[in-house]
Amino acid sequence: MKVIVTGASGGIGAAVCRRFLALGHSVHGIDILPATTEHANYVHHIADVTDSASLPGITDAAVIFNNAGVQNCGTEVEVNLLGAVNVTEKYINDNASLRSILFNASASSVSGKEFPLYAASKAGLVGYMKNVAVRLAPRGVTCNAISLGGVYTPLNDPVANDPALWKRIMDVTPMKKWTNVDEVADWVVFLTLTNRSMSGQNILIDNGEHDLADTFVWPE
Ligand SMILES: NC(=O)c1ccc[n+]([C@@H]2O[C@H](COP(=O)([O-])OP(=O)(O)OC[C@H]3O[C@@H](n4cnc5c(N)ncnc54)[C@H](O)[C@@H]3O)[C@@H](O)[C@H]2O)c1
Repeated sequence: MKVIVTGASGGIGAAVCRRFLALGHSVHGIDILPATTEHANYVHHIADVTDSASLPGITDAAVIFNNAGVQNCGTEVEVNLLGAVNVTEKYINDNASLRSILFNASASSVSGKEFPLYAASKAGLVGYMKNVAVRLAPRGVTCNAISLGGVYTPLNDPVANDPALWKRIMDVTPMKKWTNVDEVADWVVFLTLTNRSMSGQNILIDNGEHDLADTFVWPE
């Protein structure tokens, strides 16, 4: 199958590209940065998701993983939300091969925490995901989002490499770990290839951070 991955040069995007390639699929990566993946079945396109005109002409994609993202830079809505809209609208029409679309949202789409524009962009992305899911359901195409809590990628070096900040994070993370990029690839493959029956859902994958904090208080 042909797979499109945006943000393909980054931590999560590159891991997802590697996984689809290892499974024998062909992958088209889109990123403003040069390729970080080399493989006979990998094609890299340097393009900006905020600029529809820069997006390459890719026909017959079966899977689209909208993953390109930025944080704390002022352009979150343009990149994370409107960029994903540009990519999706470009590749879903006149495409009988389309099977599934997955959006990489964030735990902040559920909690509202983190940077203001980031939370707004990711919550908007979930709303747009539902819109696309409704439109594509009659074609049998699944469309979902994953909302990750912390993932070990360079994006998080400012906190992951600071022992005091890392302790604060682990203090509020019930499972005492973050997710690694290979686990994210597991989820992406399951939701885009295995899953044929769930659509319009936003899956929270956060090591219990949002829901499992133990707030039960009672005298000993
Ligand atoms: N790492 C985490 O903890 C975490 C948690 C929740 C959600 N996410 C989301 O996962 C996605 C990937 O995150 P990551 O940790 O791999 O970050 P990353 O910075 O390593 O990768 C993001 C990639 O997107 C690319 N990109 C940025 N702007 C672009 C544009 N305009 N057009 C095309 N490509 C562009 C970057 O060049 C980069 O390669 C992001 O959407 C992020 O919000 C990450």
